[in-house]
Amino acid sequence: MSSDSQTGSDADTPSDYPVGVKLGSTRTVVKTPDDLERTLTCLATYEDALTGEEKVLYGEEAAVEYPDRVQYMLRSGLPEDDENADAAATFFEAFMDATDVPPESGLVYAVPTIDNDEGVANLEAVVESSPVGETFVRAYPESLCGSVPCFDGLDALDSIFVAINLGSTNLEACAYRRGEQLAPYATGGVTGNEVDRTIVSYVEEETQGRVKVDITTAREYKEQHADFEDYEAFTDVVQQPGGGSHEFTIEDSVMDAVDEYVDSVVDQIANEFLPELANNYMKVYKLALDEQIVLTGGMACIPGLVEEVEERLGEELQRDVEVTTADSPELAAANGAHRIAEQLMVHHD
Ligand SMILES: Nc1ncnc2c1ncn2[C@@H]1O[C@H](COP(=O)(O)OP(=O)(O)OP(=O)(O)O)[C@@H](O)[C@H]1O
Ligand SMILES: [Mg+2]
Repeated sequence: MSSDSQTGSDADTPSDYPVGVKLGSTRTVVKTPDDLERTLTCLATYEDALTGEEKVLYGEEAAVEYPDRVQYMLRSGLPEDDENADAAATFFEAFMDATDVPPESGLVYAVPTIDNDEGVANLEAVVESSPVGETFVRAYPESLCGSVPCFDGLDALDSIFVAINLGSTNLEACAYRRGEQLAPYATGGVTGNEVDRTIVSYVEEETQGRVKVDITTAREYKEQHADFEDYEAFTDVVQQPGGGSHEFTIEDSVMDAVDEYVDSVVDQIANEFLPELANNYMKVYKLALDEQIVLTGGMACIPGLVEEVEERLGEELQRDVEVTTADSPELAAANGAHRIAEQLMVHHD
């Protein structure tokens, strides 16, 4: 267990139970003093065969057993409407219950920066209405939470730096000035989901139209094989509609897609976000570029991606920049949120 042993005994008194949560469109991560849990953000309900009562399944179990009616309620990043918000609340309550988070806990959760007040309000309602977090519930920006592990303690909340979040539904960037967001920028045009769709079409091209993978398979290819340091071609097998199977090898499709993704990220940052920041906050811009630029979000997991961004962004800006990410970018937001919750506990006492 990564949490320090001294929290073990203290944290057993439930009123001293800091929790960090990241609700993502694909996966949700929760960090408690005892545990780090990750699950797919999805839900399926069924009728109990004996009582007729409605029962709830979530995560991998729901996805595998009920592919016909599993619901990904944060598919677009935030709960868009009441129905999705209700489903998200049901999911969240079930997940908190399964991870043994007590009602007397202090909760910090990560919210996307994106300009969608209604969606953010819906997410807030989901967390606020849950039975956990009686001690406190606080929201912090996802990319700030995800940057915390890149600094000592909570120094991220007291520094000036640029954070770039590489998510499944959005690319987000902003400068943080002691926790305050400056020049927040978001685009739905450069995303992990888009990479998956590109892989689908590149695989079809690379196999001369013989292989059409679905989007989930494309995502798995990306998560398992994309690697800027030492990519290896891989093979897979598809069943042919008429019977028999077809084995194929992927040499280029995955890396071509992520390579274009990195170019697009660098282009958006260098030509859209940074000029806007420089225009409005020239001094902050200069200070931030002398600091490390932090990449957060799941796409930062791709080996060597940080170095690629560092090199290409440096070329585009014609100056050296330092780019970094947390050890486990896909867990960093929950880990950072937990670290903030621990500190808020101290203030609360
Ligand atoms: N090990 C990995 N290798 C490559 N990509 C990964 C890995 N783990 C996650 N990803 C990708 O990262 C993306 C998910 O990132 P993240 O969890 O930060 O997104 P999110 O918060 O749900 O999305 P958003 O912030 O855009 O709403 C997906 O595209 C996923 O495929
Ligand atoms: Mg996100």
